[in-house]
Amino acid sequence: MAATDSALRSAGPAAAGPADRGDLHPGIWPLTARAAGDGGISVGGVALTEIAARYGTPAYVLDEDDVRQRCRTYRQVFPDAEIAYAGKAFLCRAMARWVDEEGLSLDVCSEGELAVATSAGSPAERIVLHGNAKTPGDLRAAMACGVGRIVVDSVGEIARIAALAQPRQRVLVRVTPGVDAHSHPMVATGVEDQKFGLSLSSGTAADAARRILAQPELELAGLHCHLGSQITEMEAFEVAARRLVGLMAAIYAEHGVILPEFNIGGGHGVPYTEDDQDFDLTGFAGRIRAAVRGACASLRLPAPRLTFEPGRAIISRAMVTLYRVVSIKQVAGLRTFVAVDGGMSDNPRPALYGARYSVRAASRPMIAGQLATVVGRHCEAGDVLATDVALPAGTRPGDLLAVACTGAYNHSMASNYNLVGRPPVVAVRDGAARLLVRRETTSDLRQRDVGL
Ligand code: LLP
Repeated sequence: MAATDSALRSAGPAAAGPADRGDLHPGIWPLTARAAGDGGISVGGVALTEIAARYGTPAYVLDEDDVRQRCRTYRQVFPDAEIAYAGKAFLCRAMARWVDEEGLSLDVCSEGELAVATSAGSPAERIVLHGNAKTPGDLRAAMACGVGRIVVDSVGEIARIAALAQPRQRVLVRVTPGVDAHSHPMVATGVEDQKFGLSLSSGTAADAARRILAQPELELAGLHCHLGSQITEMEAFEVAARRLVGLMAAIYAEHGVILPEFNIGGGHGVPYTEDDQDFDLTGFAGRIRAAVRGACASLRLPAPRLTFEPGRAIISRAMVTLYRVVSIKQVAGLRTFVAVDGGMSDNPRPALYGARYSVRAASRPMIAGQLATVVGRHCEAGDVLATDVALPAGTRPGDLLAVACTGAYNHSMASNYNLVGRPPVVAVRDGAARLLVRRETTSDLRQRDVGL
């Protein structure tokens, strides 16, 4: 559908002041989210009730201003660094375009992400390709469009990249620094016993650097490490930075090569509930700069240019997922289950990581509250979106619920479990809504099924 067809205007005040946020915690809800007196919520000046009426539910609602503002904050806090948005957190063509317009580079990890980005006009020289198991298709597509850097994640791929390079390809070595940033074990990537990167302590990373430097088709531009996701401990980044600068010094000592780039990955934590602390980005910037400069000074090495790869911290808060209540069940003496028309197919994170989310009624005022557990429609008892959240007393089927902070890794990890189609992504800004990604229909699902 063309943007103009789907444009939706609302009477909601796009530029309302902070007082209009009501009980919408500013650290969790999108920048432009506003609470209305009747219990409604608007984002980007568009009432969520109008979005539900026009696009149906469930729907991902994306605040363009929030995304752009987060990109600008990163640019302001790190004026000398490169910021490469990690597209795996959420990517569609509009998102690729926004981050490019805001001056960010892009990290992709598959031929698919690359195709979406380049079709939106993302400049290939500012794209970084990742992956612990890059397929021949990933590498061919990346080199055909001329991606700026490929991050080497295994010794075996060095020759594969060199064979395809025309004429030369810039690469980074992904180093496992042996640092535990205490993130969820499923996303802890700085420690030795996991699949990503090349070990610093065993010498594999130094060996990879040696092999790359021996390949005339490859240019070793620098080192990379990524410690994990949803990290709140800043010290872990400092320790990793010092260790990687140590490897840069060793490479200089052995080969006389000064590496100009140091990509320290992403992983900056975000709050999901009012109890969670926000990540102090300015404090982090000061500490990481000091750690890198200090280590470089003591090893008599010029400081490399830093790259950061935030995904979650850019997109998480910009999106809310809008659901409609389908059924309510009281299990006497135990719990009230409020079941909605989506669930683990559009947000697998509670089931995968025990993630907690903030939920709010979007069509009924909170005059008196009740505790409820919001569950999805899927055929698993573990399909729970949020446990013991306050909803208005009298919540009933047909009501709308909004779940905050669903921008990161919800749409990108969505499935069509139970053959439920994936929800649309609707962007809102300045009182207008437009469809970015349409809903997956039964006919889409049917069309993929080509045999009988
Ligand atoms: N750079 C690299 C090389 C990465 O692997 C990742 C995330 C990032 C940057 C961005 O990390 P962020 O700033 O978003 O934390 N599905 C999990 C998260 C997986 C993260 C994968 N890599 C979740 O839903 O929590």
